[in-house]
Amino acid sequence: MVQVLKDPSLNEHIGGQPPSVEYLTTRYDTLSSRRSPGGDELWLNWIIRLNAEGRAVGYVQATVRESSAALAWVVGVPCQRAGIATEATSAMIGLLREKLALTTFSASIASSNQASQRVAAKLGMRRSGMMDDGEDLWVVSVSTPESATPEVSTDGGRAR
Ligand SMILES: CC(C)(COP(=O)(O)OP(=O)(O)OC[C@H]1O[C@@H](n2cnc3c(N)ncnc32)[C@H](O)[C@@H]1OP(=O)(O)O)[C@@H](O)C(=O)NCCC(=O)NCCS
Repeated sequence: MVQVLKDPSLNEHIGGQPPSVEYLTTRYDTLSSRRSPGGDELWLNWIIRLNAEGRAVGYVQATVRESSAALAWVVGVPCQRAGIATEATSAMIGLLREKLALTTFSASIASSNQASQRVAAKLGMRRSGMMDDGEDLWVVSVSTPESATPEVSTDGGRAR
């Protein structure tokens, strides 16, 4: 994952800097508990791997509180613009709905982050009008855990 996350352009909109081996080792050790230190949130993280070769190309994460999850997605530069973030996040949403019966999904996205806005739109998310730490809060809600899984929209998310 150090190789995947080494390009500084990945941090342009999300802050921070490319992680070291030491940092990621500690970070993943913390995340492996799958809970926030206070125990009130689930911290769920998946590394995205290419089916064909098993190579890691990015990650998706969900911070779960009650029936909602705040989502984030990162894909390494060489593998971008191939639909990977959209496919991986859609799969994560499906899993969270099926296993945890979650009904609301959100993402905090900088107004300058066009790529992430496109991913959110393709997942059925819309700008909520609320801000989260200076970023737009994008949200999609589903009425029940069983119905209407937010799917990758066939119009590329352009419909508003
Ligand atoms: C945002 C990010 C995860 C997108 O990953 P990705 O695998 O390239 O996304 P997808 O291939 O699923 O693309 C989804 C849409 O975004 C568009 N897109 C991708 N990169 C783009 C870019 N740099 N500028 C504009 N649109 C872009 C794609 O064209 C596609 O839209 P389309 O179907 O209408 O053509 C990736 O750019 C990234 O990791 N960025 C840095 C980290 C980050 O900002 N994470 C999000 C935090 S909220």
